[in-house]
This record gives sequence, structure tokens and C-alpha cells, in this order.
Amino acid sequence: MRTLVKETLTKIGQNVNLNGWVDSIRDHGKITFLDLRDRSGKIQCVGKDLPKVTAESVVEIVGTVAKRPEKLINPRLPTGTVEIQIEKMTVMSSSKELPFPIDTDGYNIDEDVRLKYRYLDIRRPRMAQNLRLRSKVTTFIRNYLTDRDFAEIETPMLTKTTPEGARDFLVPARLHPGKFYALPQSPQQYKQLLMVAGLERYFQIVRCFRDESQRADRAYGEFTQLDLEISFVTQNDILELIEDLFTKIVKEIFPEKHISQSPWPRIPHKEAIQKYGVDKPDLRKDKNDPNELAFGWTIDFPLFTGQTKEDFFYGSGKAKFAPSHHMFTAPHPDDIPLLDTDPTKVRGLQYDLILNGFEVGGGSIRIHQKNVQEKIFDLIGFTAEQKTQFEHMLTAFTYGVPPHGGIAPGIDRFMMAVRGEPTIREVMAFPANAHGSTAVVDAPSFANEKQLAELGISIRHRPKTKTG
Ligand code: AMO
Repeated sequence: MRTLVKETLTKIGQNVNLNGWVDSIRDHGKITFLDLRDRSGKIQCVGKDLPKVTAESVVEIVGTVAKRPEKLINPRLPTGTVEIQIEKMTVMSSSKELPFPIDTDGYNIDEDVRLKYRYLDIRRPRMAQNLRLRSKVTTFIRNYLTDRDFAEIETPMLTKTTPEGARDFLVPARLHPGKFYALPQSPQQYKQLLMVAGLERYFQIVRCFRDESQRADRAYGEFTQLDLEISFVTQNDILELIEDLFTKIVKEIFPEKHISQSPWPRIPHKEAIQKYGVDKPDLRKDKNDPNELAFGWTIDFPLFTGQTKEDFFYGSGKAKFAPSHHMFTAPHPDDIPLLDTDPTKVRGLQYDLILNGFEVGGGSIRIHQKNVQEKIFDLIGFTAEQKTQFEHMLTAFTYGVPPHGGIAPGIDRFMMAVRGEPTIREVMAFPANAHGSTAVVDAPSFANEKQLAELGISIRHRPKTKTG
């Protein structure tokens, strides 16, 4: 039976069978020392006349766990008080020399090379740790929310446009030649429809797709949200729930971190702009302290950004007012008359979750009245055709809609901020690069003629290369 490296400490004097990678080798003539690594840690193994092996090969070692003499104890290894006296070593799979070192933090290595060999890059302890912590965070969230009566519900990936301000990814529909699905920029409409359906408390740890340019804190293509929605809720309820959830995540999973201020400050948008010049101020007291987490809320945003965004809704070109969050955000009830007279003065019931200068989440109380939703569609300059794209929302709003609201913290962006990573890609297993090519598998690629014919698609311009 296999023993994990970390279990050897309790098995002194026993014969064990270890499986893992050769982390390093020190050849002293007849005697060889090697460090064996598995998912639980590293341990020194020593043996005579071992088969030839290269670093990063996968081996099976049968041997005895022995206490190390006092002066040979390695205080830097959790297993530094013991070693394995090898009786038999079998090479299960040998490794070529890796294209880059994995015992460094890796920040200096060309990122495209790291992404091409991401499966090796993830052997780097920092990367493996980021992915394991991310898994702990999502597990914690699932337990926390299901304990509080939330249901986790999946929503379609092949769907219709859900504008969140970026370009859509389109997927051709073979059964409907000439028609396309859009991948969701978020499950915004579905989660609201689940409130109409009476679920009351929904969440989903969900992939969102946006064709927008990559930045340090923004993934190209796809990223993950904790998406949630609640019925019969106030803005304050949502802020308190999220504050409690993230405070507990930090306490449980990142105990070395401290939160600068609790309760988290709530800063009106106008004040943030006046005082800090941005709507996501970095509220840390000491920016040199890597363990400080300054959470906060930006509230009281204007409903509209004021400026015309030509491409706010793809193909519209004549938006009069672009929503500062999205078109389903409720106007402040006191400001509804202003929608007719001075829309730029209307406040929206929306809020951003901020952390160390990043916008980690955004949400709002939603419109649940058909006439208000129609008015917003008019103000943002929807054509009759664009309105029909959202007809299902207006129809749903005629069948008894609970007041509702929600939020969507970005999981990747939260992990980046809390781990102090320089880019969001450091907390994602297989991110796309700046040119939108995905790690390792190098998608997208050309479709062949038969596939295109089935879809009723002909390509207008194709670069003159033979790849694909
Ligand atoms: P919003 O568009 O503000 O709101 O997105 C919410 C959060 O998602 C994360 N995020 C991203 N993370 C990485 N890469 C990206 N390209 C990217 N885009 C967004 C951010 C952001 O704060 N449906 C609404 C939420 C709601 O109203 O409930 C929405 O998607 O952390």
C-alpha cells in the first residue's frame, strides 16, 4: 500500500512504499541521496547502487523509515528528522530536462513558455499552492452558502447575449444554420429568472465569457464568478452576508492575513472620486505589509455613466446613456421621477466590493417592474429589435416577481488580491495568453471544410498560413 511522504513521520522503523517525483539528486559515488516529492511534501531518500534516474522522473521507492542522527536533521523540511533507506527503486517514467526551473518563483520566465508547459509550471510549489488554496476557498463558499439555505444551480453556457459591457463569444448552431449561440458574460438573466421561479436563494460558482482585452487583473476569454441572487432582500443584507463570508474565508484559509478595518467601510461613489480619484481606492494602512487586506464597499453609484458608449451594446451604436453596472440595476426609488427629467442624476442601487485597490465584485438590487425595465431600455437607446432580444425578461416580469438583488465576486480576482500575485493568470490553472491562445492546447484552431459546410459557414478572410 502506498504511504504519503507526510505520513512517514509516524512510521519510524517501518517498511514503506513511496510514489512520486525525484525532486533533486546528489550523487556521492556509490551512495545516492535523492529527495522524493509527492502531493504531501518532500523527503530525503538514500541508497546504494540505484538505477540511473533523472530529476523529475516518477519513481517507486520501497524502503525503511529511519530517524536521522541529531546533527543531520534538516530543520527546513517538515520531514527533516527522518529519511528513507532505499531497498528498491523502480523508475516508472523518466523525465527529460525541463524547459525551465521549477524550484524558483518563476516570475522571470517568459510567460508564453510557462503557459505552453503549464503542466510543468504547476509543479512549482507557489503555483500548486495557489490552486489548492483556490479549491479550499470554493469549497468553503459552497458549504457556507448551502448551510444558509442557498441552492447551487447550473445555468446554460450555450445561450443568448447577456451584455455586461464586453463582446460576446459566438458559437455557430449546426441545427439552425446562420444562427449563433452566445456564451454568457454572466448568468445575470437566468439568476433573475430563478427568482421569478421562486427559488429565493441561488448561487453558482460559474464560468463567464468575455471577449475583452487582457490586463493584469482581467482574464481574456473566461474567468470564474461566485454568482448569487436573493429575493426579498435589501442592499444592506447583501453587503452584510458577503462581509461575513469573506471575513470567515480569510480567518479560516488565510490566517496569516489581517483585515484592516471591520465593519468594512462603505464609501459613496462621489466621495471615492473626490477623495481618491478612483471608484476602487486602495484602503490599506501600510502598502508594504503583504498581509494586510483592506476590504470595502463603494456604494451610491450613478445609474448611468453619463457618457455615450458607442459599443456598449454590440451593434447598437446609438446608446444615449450607458448603465454604469448593467441594464437590470434598479434606480434609487426616490430618483425614479428623474428618469424623465435628468437621468444622469439618478442613483443606482448598486455596490462594488473592493479589496486592496481591486474591484473584486459588483452587484445591485434589480428592477422587478416591467414599466421601469422598459424605460431603462428606452434610455439606453435600444432599437425595437434589441428590445425583442430581452422580451423574455419583460414577459417574466408580468407573472409575480419578488424584489431581488445579488452580487458576483470574481474568484480569480479575489485569489490574485489575497495572494498578492502580480497577475490573475497566476491563480488560474490554464489561462489564455494576451493573444487569446489557451495554455498548452493552443486553441483556437481552424475548422475543416466539412465542419464549416455542416454549419453553413464560409470564411471570408483566412490568413495565408498552413497551420490549423
Ligand atoms: P461584473 O461585470 O461587475 O458584474 O463582474 C463581477 C466581477 O467579476 C470579475 N470579472 C473578471 N474577472 C476576471 N477577468 C475578467 N475579464 C472579469 N470581468 C469581471 C470581477 C468583477 O468584479 N452580473 C453582474 C453581477 C451582478 O450584478 O450580480 C456582473 O457580472 O471580480
